[in-house]
Formats: sequence, structure tokens, C-alpha cells
Amino acid sequence: MSSPFPYETFASDDTFYGRIKEIHKILNFAEQSNNLVIYSKRRLGKSSLIKETFRDKKEYLFIYCDIFDIASKEDFARKLINSLPKAFTYDVKKVFSQLNKLFKRINLSYTADPISGKISLKPELTALGYDDMIEEFFTAIFELAKKQKIVLAIDEFQEISQIKDTKIDARLREYIQIKNNISYIFLGSKRHMLNSLFEYKAPLFEQATPLLLEPLDIEDIYKFTSKHLNISKELVEYIFDLCAGETKLMQHIYHILYQNYKRKEISQELVHLSLKEIINAKSSAYKIIYDTFSLNQKKAFKILSKYKKNIYTKELLYEYNISKDSMQSSLKALYKREIIDKEDDIWFIPDRAFEIWGERF
Ligand SMILES: Nc1ncnc2c1ncn2[C@@H]1O[C@H](COP(=O)(O)OP(=O)(O)OP(=O)(O)O)[C@@H](O)[C@H]1O
Ligand SMILES: [Mg+2]
Repeated sequence: MSSPFPYETFASDDTFYGRIKEIHKILNFAEQSNNLVIYSKRRLGKSSLIKETFRDKKEYLFIYCDIFDIASKEDFARKLINSLPKAFTYDVKKVFSQLNKLFKRINLSYTADPISGKISLKPELTALGYDDMIEEFFTAIFELAKKQKIVLAIDEFQEISQIKDTKIDARLREYIQIKNNISYIFLGSKRHMLNSLFEYKAPLFEQATPLLLEPLDIEDIYKFTSKHLNISKELVEYIFDLCAGETKLMQHIYHILYQNYKRKEISQELVHLSLKEIINAKSSAYKIIYDTFSLNQKKAFKILSKYKKNIYTKELLYEYNISKDSMQSSLKALYKREIIDKEDDIWFIPDRAFEIWGERF
């Protein structure tokens, strides 16, 4: 049997656990065709949650669009259109004829996945500009919304703020404001970028209700993990604290425990062995990133990973031979590079495994 603890792929169906309240809340919003912004720290489970919420929910046409790697407004529009054929679960021929009727300027062709052989639809978009593509997409979904409730989930939504030559949010506002059967769900993890898209006077201000995703509930984690491992609740709590609640790192530890010690009683020692295996495997990648830091940035990163909140004490600055000013400017530089993050004016390293590596290295 494959591992019940995915840590690199999305959790779904029998590997997904907990989140009952969140699923209920999201469905309530979708039911009313209201809009949501779901945000959290990285790797807590936003993408898994939204996919699981609408898995097998036949009453919705669930369109999922991940825009993490867009570099232009055209990329954004292309992603939207490409996500549409994938949203249908029924026969590809039927989807072909349905979408062909809806699209005026887009031709569809069949393609086969070279590995699985699975047939899917590919929209031909080379001749179309941004405005045309956006219009085609929204005309199509508005037409579909006459017959069925639609959920359009745009993941890593903060990326639209990186596109400087046009205001994608202002364009989206025009469509979002039209009341119909569509619920828009925006997901993202870079809080400051996401905030700026929904703040006062921004085009999307008050267009969606924020929902902060918290870490998984410890009781839910225990209920699931103890089905597959001989583990105590205390140890589940211990792992939760060790990982600062980061779902992905917890799942990775459980995966290794499951692979190596499925039949054993899990102890702190086995947890530490598993964590060590993870950090060792990631170490060379982290080292490459770390080596791109300036000397002062290296010091600032080390201090932050080891001492968290108390980073400006005289003793520390003296020990690391760095001034308060240099420390501050180095942290700012690391923030710009998205190595570290800030919440309520407190710096932190969002990748818990990287932070642990920094504590130890
Ligand atoms: N409810 C859950 N049950 C089991 N595993 C989960 C759950 N939520 C998340 N995971 C696991 O944790 C990992 C991270 O989840 P996911 O990618 O959904 O998080 P995310 O918040 O979208 O992360 P990112 O910030 O990188 O986009 C995944 O491997 C996923 O399988
Ligand atoms: Mg995600």
C-alpha cells in the first residue's frame, strides 16, 4: 500500500483528514454564490482543502486555476481558459461540443497525454490577446452559470500583483460585481501581497470575505495518524510543536515513520531520526540558497532561526559581530527575496524545515 501521508502531492479522499468546519463554511459561501479569500502561512493545506471541498460535488462546476508561475497578463488569461475544460468530469466529446458552442474565437483540439494516454482538450490561443481571452472566458462561464452553480478558485492569487502593465484586479472586479451563480474563491499565502489587493480603495476591496486557515486540529491529526501508526497523543502534540503546525513537514515526518517504523511504538527518538533524515535530504538545496546570502544576511538568518523573537539583544549582536542597523537591513533584504516573512512586525522563516536547518547548521 502506498503511504497514507502525502507530503508533496495534494491530500484527497482517503488521505485527507480534518477540516470539517472549514469545508462546511466554504460550501455555505458557494451555496450563496458569495466570494472568499482563503489565506494562511505556506504549506498548511489551502490547495488540498479547496480541492477536497468540491471533489464529487456534482451540483457545482468547480474550476481550479493555479497561477503561481504567471509572468504576464496573457499568461493569466491563458491559465483561466485552460482551467475550464479540466473542470468537467464527463465525457470529453460532450465537453468538446459544449465548449465549442460557448467559445466564439477559440478553437479546441484533442490531445493525448504521452504517458497515461488520457485524452483532453487543448484551447488554441496563439492568435488572441489578453482582452479577447478574458472576455471569452467570462462570457463562457456566465453562460454556463445560467444552468449550474460555478465555483472559480484562483490559487496563489497574490501573483497578479506582480503584473505591472495592467490592473488585473480592476478587470476582475467588473465581472465579479455582476451578481450571478458564480462564487469566486481566491487563495494565497503571501499575506502582505494579498492584503494589498483587498485593502481599502483597492478594486477588490470588500469583494470577498477573508478566511484565515489555521493549522490542522491536533485531535484530528491524532485520530488519523493513530489509525496507521502506534503513536500517543502526546507525541502528536510534540510533532505539531516541532513543525510549528506546518502540515507539509508534519506529513513528511509521518510518512517516514510509516515507511520505517509502522509496527513499532513511536518514540521521540524515532521522530528525531525521521526529522534528521528530512533535513539531511534538503540540506544541499538549503546550502545553495544560503551561499547566495551576504555575510551579514547569513548572520541575520542564523540569529533569526535560532533565537526567533529575541534577536536584537546586545549579547547576540556582540556574539555575531553585527550592528543593529546591519541586522535590520539584512532582514529586509531577505524579506525582499521572500526567504523570510513578517507578521505583526515580527520576522519569521516561513519554511519550518529551512528554519530547523538554520538552527543546526
Ligand atoms: N487536511 C489534510 N489532510 C492530510 N494532508 C494534508 C491536509 N492538508 C494538507 N495536507 C498535506 O500537506 C501538504 C501541503 O498541503 P497543500 O499543498 O494543500 O498546502 P498549501 O497551503 O496549498 O501550500 P502552499 O502554500 O505551498 O501552496 C500536502 O502534501 C498535503 O498533502
Ligand atoms: Mg497551495
